[in-house]
Amino acid sequence: MAKAAAHFACSDCGYTAGRWFGKCPGCGSFGTLFEEQPVAATAAGQAKPLLRLVDVQADEASRIGTGVAELDRVLGGGLVPASLVLVGGEPGVGKSTLLLSALGAISRDRRALLVTGEESVAQVKLRAARLGGCDAVEILAETELDVVCETLEVERPAVCVIDSVQTLWSQEIGSAPGSVSQVREAAGRLLRVAKEAGVATFLVGHVTKDGSVAGPRVLEHLVDCVLQFEGDRYHAHRILRAVKNRFGSTNELGVFEMTGEGLVGVPDPSEVFGRTHGGEIGAAVACTLEGTRPLLLEIQSLVAPTDLAMPRRVGTGVDPKRLAMIVAVLSRHAGLPLGAADVFVNVAGGVRIDEPGADLGIALAIASATKGVPVQEGLAAFGEIGLTGRLRAATQTDRRLEECRKFGSSVVLGPECETLRLALAAGLADSPA
Ligand SMILES: Nc1ncnc2c1ncn2[C@@H]1O[C@H](COP(=O)(O)OP(=O)(O)OP(=O)(O)O)[C@@H](O)[C@H]1O
Ligand SMILES: [Mg+2]
Repeated sequence: MAKAAAHFACSDCGYTAGRWFGKCPGCGSFGTLFEEQPVAATAAGQAKPLLRLVDVQADEASRIGTGVAELDRVLGGGLVPASLVLVGGEPGVGKSTLLLSALGAISRDRRALLVTGEESVAQVKLRAARLGGCDAVEILAETELDVVCETLEVERPAVCVIDSVQTLWSQEIGSAPGSVSQVREAAGRLLRVAKEAGVATFLVGHVTKDGSVAGPRVLEHLVDCVLQFEGDRYHAHRILRAVKNRFGSTNELGVFEMTGEGLVGVPDPSEVFGRTHGGEIGAAVACTLEGTRPLLLEIQSLVAPTDLAMPRRVGTGVDPKRLAMIVAVLSRHAGLPLGAADVFVNVAGGVRIDEPGADLGIALAIASATKGVPVQEGLAAFGEIGLTGRLRAATQTDRRLEECRKFGSSVVLGPECETLRLALAAGLADSPA
């Protein structure tokens, strides 16, 4: 019999190849290609009767409240029954804690099941005791996919958490747990069970070095929502954001604080992230919009002379291309001498800014650091910077203005300024004598 062709797949990005490579040609990671068993072809199916959309019963009001307000917000107003949600995050960021508290709240009026493959039942019990209110949560310590799927079909809980999808394995697939084909098979099978048995399922997924959810990207296509749990495990604040959401906006953001009693939602993150120390050089407050929620964020910047031929532009929480553009506009149109200086920008609390409305706040922080002049006290800024040095109005100005007023920002810079040069002149405090 002819030998089956070898088939290798990258455990980080899902790249497949007919031979082994030390370095993955897809994502450039080293040592991530593993041999996979080809999946046998399935038998042909039978035709099914068709339905008209008008005959389909669906009720928007049937979303399941998770009892964690910030999680509900990110999901778009609660968990949709029979949906599959992938929750990714770095080790120790608090995925298990968040989902156990959600299960605890759900278990008050529905059946909620935790399938744990990573922790023993006793370890989960300890966490549950710390969080409180989880007495009615059912638990299954199992890693075999067939057993998990069979149990879900028989028990049919309303909500199930699989912690984590990387620990599940199926005997039919030859490769090790956590490999691309195992993860793909597990997600595919759980998707079918979720839809057929009506079990809303959270899959916990590990993330790779660069922060994306590990395993093949195909997992992200399979599931209904992908939530990313971010934040430094050394800091108390954590950010939950939707990367993909079939039932709501992907721009929503939830903010939590890790405490001894578990993750507590922060309803007013502007209060936490939007404060600067008066008179500090290189700090400005930007008013950004995350989904429907305006958010005040402190932006810090450091501008240091450098001998490097290519000065560094390093942003934490800021898109590097956007930062390079802002630095270039500042040099060209506001006359700042940034050509021989390293520029570092940091966004408070580990929040990542994705929208251009924060441009002016970033520019203001850099200008303050370059000139050694603090930004005016009580100032918040928003506005998009164009390549010509002209400012464009940011979206939803009214909501942003309202947030600035709510947090007592006495000066709001942006909506009425025409050019970046004028905005900088208005935003920086008078030079010290
Ligand atoms: N008693 C406590 N008080 C405060 N914080 C705690 C306490 N116990 C644990 N934590 C926090 O909980 C975090 C671990 O949370 P959790 O186990 O939910 O993370 P995880 O994302 O599921 O991690 P993993 O990927 O390893 O499963 C720790 O990093 C720690 O910050
Ligand atoms: Mg965990």
